Amino acid sequence: MKTPKDTQETTASSRPTPPLPRISVVGTGYLGATHAAAMAEMGFEVVGVDNDPAKAQALSEGRVPFFEPGLPELIRKHVASGRLRFTTDIAEATAISDVHFICVGTPQQRGSNAANLSYVEEATRQVATSLTHDGIIVGKSTVPVGTGARLRSLIADAVPAGIDVELVWNPEFLREGKAVDDTLTPDRIVLGGTSPRSEAVLREVYAMPIATGTPVIVCDLPTAELVKVSANAFLATKISFINAIAEVCEAADADVSVLADALGHDVRIGRQFLNAGLGFGGGCLPKDIRALIHRSSELGAYKAAALLQQVDEINMSQRQQVIELAIEACGGSVLNRRIGVLGAAFKPLTDDVRDSPALNVAAALHLRGAQVVVYDPEAMDTAKRMFPTLSYADSIEEAATGSDALLVLTEWDDFIATDPVKLHALAASPILIDARNCLNPEQWRAAGWNYTGLGSAVAPVVDARGSYVAPRSAALVGAR
Ligand code: UDX
Repeated sequence: MKTPKDTQETTASSRPTPPLPRISVVGTGYLGATHAAAMAEMGFEVVGVDNDPAKAQALSEGRVPFFEPGLPELIRKHVASGRLRFTTDIAEATAISDVHFICVGTPQQRGSNAANLSYVEEATRQVATSLTHDGIIVGKSTVPVGTGARLRSLIADAVPAGIDVELVWNPEFLREGKAVDDTLTPDRIVLGGTSPRSEAVLREVYAMPIATGTPVIVCDLPTAELVKVSANAFLATKISFINAIAEVCEAADADVSVLADALGHDVRIGRQFLNAGLGFGGGCLPKDIRALIHRSSELGAYKAAALLQQVDEINMSQRQQVIELAIEACGGSVLNRRIGVLGAAFKPLTDDVRDSPALNVAAALHLRGAQVVVYDPEAMDTAKRMFPTLSYADSIEEAATGSDALLVLTEWDDFIATDPVKLHALAASPILIDARNCLNPEQWRAAGWNYTGLGSAVAPVVDARGSYVAPRSAALVGAR
């Protein structure tokens, strides 16, 4: 099969081929900026639109305002190749494009579990009103089921007379930290609500991944919307499942990490997303399951709502468990205790601190009077913006220096590779809480640390003065 690049490089001797569709991408956050760059890499002319002039300008200069490995290089490559540019002018972008991807955010509404759809609605309305020729509007944002149907009537009211436009849904499954690879080589391509014409255009748009075997699922609009939220709900459920089992492990002197390895060998289960610990955070999983709880309840689908409510509760209780572990390790109070926190990002390989479990725990201990000192390899700036009252260190060593307890809250490679002997010499008290079960307990214990992980047999801990503290309950204190 020909790829768009092949098509573009058609020689004079070949049969003439119709021009490639030109692409606009509205919204240039993690999703939109990566999608725009990936489309350019696949051979298309792309214009990215953002209503933030500073962001559009930065991207035009190849500067990405967030940390995403490989993305600045790809953007610079295609800004230089001339295939990719950025603007704040949605009407200009729409006028020169044929396929319009909607990639704006759908954050959780204030005071509700529901998704805030105002950005998606506004972006869609603006594209529809700006159309100067026929086109396809492709929703990529994560939305509650039923949104596409409402957007279709919004488009019908907004589109200029005589112009033929379709709205279809093509959800994105990219993970932060791996966004470029996930976009260039997706696991699957879901096309919802397409006509034969729009399906053909989108198959052309995705010709490169399709040519390398990426499966395409063509379905109706609501199914496509639900695939994305269900995928995230399933991942969230897997994490809360293993965290619930971790509680049983603690009570029964079992080891959840070994258990997860054993479970993972069953291909029906798989090992991924079975890491027990501090639980999930970020800009997607928490708000997506809450939006699904809300939407399921609206639709009278109470079983899904009840299941996901439990998933959310288990997840949030992991944060509380780590807070209580730290308090207990400090002898019942963290007042005036120095707590070193390793990790601020919601997961490694990102500087995103949205709904970060690590920062939640750090802030909660700070509120209880602890002197919390946070270090993260990439998320220092974003963390400082969100929690300016916490203290920040410039290195792992600085965070550990003088600590009455050291907490590992994000599983960065730097933390896994750090030398426990060196840190032991710096800490005031060798108490280590590994809330991501990412360190080697034997190695840390051998270096003199009182190591505590989550979801394994109960072991004694000592407080900040080195005195023995009997664990209060098996569910609360676990050490590997
Ligand atoms: C998620 C989905 O994975 C992605 O497909 C979707 O498009 C957007 O939402 P992302 O938000 O980047 O991606 O994060 P993800 O890698 O899914 O991790 C989410 C959270 O779960 C992180 O806080 C991570 O630390 C936590 N997690 C992950 C666990 O606690 N245990 C695990 O085993 C795996």
